Amino acid sequence: MAQAGDIEKVKSLSAIFVIFGATGDLSRKKIFPSFFELTKANMLPKNFRILGAARSKLARKEFIDLVRESITTDDTTAWKKFESKVDYITADVAEDVNLDKVGKYIDNYENEIENCPQRVFYMAIANTIYEKAFENLGMHELNKGCKIHDCKARIVVEKPFGQNLETAIRLDEVLNKYFTEEQIYRIDHFLGKETVQNIFALRFANEIFEPIWNNHYIDHVQITAAEFGGIERRGAFYDQTGALRDFVQNHLLQLLTLVAMEVPEKFNRESIRKRKIEVLESLRPMDEEEIKTSTVRGQYEGYLTEDNVATSSKTETYALLKLFIENKRWQGVPFYIRTGKRLTGKVTSIILSFKEKTHKLFENFWEQPMPNHITIQIDPTEGIGIRLIAKKPGVGTQLEPVDMEFCYKTSFDIPNPNAYERLLLDIIAGDQTLFLGPIRASWKFIDPIRNVWDNGKPELAVYKQGSWGPEEANKLIKRDGREWLAPLLTICKI
Ligand code: BG6
Repeated sequence: MAQAGDIEKVKSLSAIFVIFGATGDLSRKKIFPSFFELTKANMLPKNFRILGAARSKLARKEFIDLVRESITTDDTTAWKKFESKVDYITADVAEDVNLDKVGKYIDNYENEIENCPQRVFYMAIANTIYEKAFENLGMHELNKGCKIHDCKARIVVEKPFGQNLETAIRLDEVLNKYFTEEQIYRIDHFLGKETVQNIFALRFANEIFEPIWNNHYIDHVQITAAEFGGIERRGAFYDQTGALRDFVQNHLLQLLTLVAMEVPEKFNRESIRKRKIEVLESLRPMDEEEIKTSTVRGQYEGYLTEDNVATSSKTETYALLKLFIENKRWQGVPFYIRTGKRLTGKVTSIILSFKEKTHKLFENFWEQPMPNHITIQIDPTEGIGIRLIAKKPGVGTQLEPVDMEFCYKTSFDIPNPNAYERLLLDIIAGDQTLFLGPIRASWKFIDPIRNVWDNGKPELAVYKQGSWGPEEANKLIKRDGREWLAPLLTICKI
């Protein structure tokens, strides 16, 4: 991962990013604003260029105006600096339109700076056209680096990578025809979030947790990613994708791997990938019966009237899975993972709920035992909380739960780059630690669920916008004698 010292290294490099799909939602919402912030913070290489590429016939000025709309700032100096680094070309990477011009543009930039810039191709395009795009890049030898040094081009691909196991394998085959693993950056932006990275530190730099991080002490784990927002302008994409592919297969399963993995041998790409795959391969496959009873798929009321959504769409905007990891550490511990759009608020957290054990000493002081919890919170604020039981001050003995909190905002008085900023710096630095390897194991687990869901089981549960999701989700957890802990245990309140 790019560390503070690495910023100086990044700044000493030269780089050119070609962003295919530069007028799309992802580019405008995440990529350009992140590059702007990095420019403002003076964290990018001195020789740095972004070439936006998309099908629209736009003059550079028109494109710049479009980018400007997506960036909220009144810092004109920073904007001018950023703008001077951005250019535009009409090109369609899937249909091979103007790709030769893209190549020439890069060559010219190389001559202009008299240096070898790191070439990065960012595929911010629909994954349905990835295959053609990879072929076209390869045909134009855009997988090669600059001429002066042996520096290979990098390619960044987004999630979901493929639609299922079969298409993911196919995409990898085509990608690997032209790009080696060292050149491929499979991004899952959740892995760039500070608290998510901190899971490694929490688990493996603190000796106190490892002995209790297992089925002897942990009753169950809840991973929640509730969103306040809906599908916004992404109806066409979302209606073909759904929450299971958009969120569960990648973000939620990635969070699960970090919580559940064994300690990696080293803090590097190979060791971390190996540990993640072990977890994914240990997921107990779900058969049809289990899928019917241990999953919930929901859709918010009003989804069918969203733009570019089929009027009879059965696409889920809410997904919940109760799953098990079949290994020594986690045998018998249910993991409830859920995500949904248009819920009450934005809450992303991992909560480990400990077994309820009341010591005889306190038998008479509480009506029911209160379990301990560890909350790893990503949204609405970042931090870690431990729920303890304390004696209430005063005469006599009354016990109450209290929260011990570590909040990023108060503990570290330093700016916290957002996930995309962080990962963009890693791409420039050539650090793949936080990027994914070939995505097979997660599709292998998800595909059977997708198939049963596509056959209409369990019933699609409609839920109210602004609620916490379908009633079926409450029923599922209550059936197990448990309750949802998020947002109940929200920590680091502002
Ligand atoms: C994206 C999904 O990967 O993550 C979106 O495609 C989702 O549907 C978004 O809204 C959530 O990211 P974050 O960082 O805002 O929690």
